[in-house]
Amino acid sequence: MTKKMLTNIFAEITHACKEKNHPYRYFYMSSCGLNGHIRQRTMVLRDVIDGQFLQVYTDRRSKKMTHINEHNEVSLLFFNPDTLTQITMVAYVEIEKDKDELQKKWETIPDFVKSDYVVSDIPGTIIQHPDQTQYNDHSGNFTILYFIPEKIEILQIKRPNNIRASYEKTNFGWEGVYITP
Ligand SMILES: Cc1cc2nc3c(=O)[nH]c(=O)nc-3n(C[C@H](O)[C@H](O)[C@H](O)COP(=O)(O)O)c2cc1C
Repeated sequence: MTKKMLTNIFAEITHACKEKNHPYRYFYMSSCGLNGHIRQRTMVLRDVIDGQFLQVYTDRRSKKMTHINEHNEVSLLFFNPDTLTQITMVAYVEIEKDKDELQKKWETIPDFVKSDYVVSDIPGTIIQHPDQTQYNDHSGNFTILYFIPEKIEILQIKRPNNIRASYEKTNFGWEGVYITP
């Protein structure tokens, strides 16, 4: 039963990355650098590879990359307000290193999405006005991250009983148990 819950969640997340308005298409990623400061931000889920690795795009100059390079474990949070379901994940991060793969993906991205990754100044630089944002004409700062979940918790708020399940990745696949909400 817990296994089915996890299978359903992965199926829904996989569906969500192709559905513009699905609540799981946007999720929150928390990271922690060497100094112990925590940052969190919204991300767009771009794909789910092999049914379990979450793919996102980012700018390699952003603060999250500093954090990931210092400590490559992150916490992810998804929330569906329609079903009152919360999913949290502890995940390791892999950064795409293959230049051909990055270029191949870049060529499939619509121009309006590309503009998010071609800002001239490093993300977080002070500017006079948003209209003064300058753009590069190359894809050099675009990169792809893969989140590899190691632990997952699902909490569904419902009557008469809230449901909470906890999963760990083992050598035999995902092992899950119900836990008190
Ligand atoms: C709706 C929305 C979607 C976003 N999607 C992404 C994304 O997919 N990738 C990304 O790097 N930043 C995305 N951002 C911007 C991040 O939330 C964040 O502000 C930015 O990446 C800088 O974060 P950092 O300084 O912690 O690295 C998104 C922001 C919003 C509001």
